[in-house]
Amino acid sequence: MPQLRVVKRSGEEAVIEATAGHSVMEAISNSGVEDIAAICGGACACATCHVYVAEEFSELAGEASESERELLDFSENARPGSRLSCQIIVTEALSGLCVEVAPEED
Ligand code: FES
Repeated sequence: MPQLRVVKRSGEEAVIEATAGHSVMEAISNSGVEDIAAICGGACACATCHVYVAEEFSELAGEASESERELLDFSENARPGSRLSCQIIVTEALSGLCVEVAPEED
């Protein structure tokens, strides 16, 4: 089972279990880390699942789709590595993936 490292808004790091085929957002939400609101339930429509993917995993995590990029363009906290965690699908190859939860939007 892939494990992910999540840096919470508090700065604390959690190692969580993820299921291949599920999204990183689902893995974080199911782990009990409460920083991700995921208001739209993973429909790529709210950006409340915004995370920063560690640079060494950016290629493995894949490219953001056009609709994901459009949402991130509206975020005041967007920066290199920004992704919507509901749009990253967990694979075995992503085991060890480190994501940092982005600050809440004002
Ligand atoms: S949960 Fe809404 S965009 Fe990811």
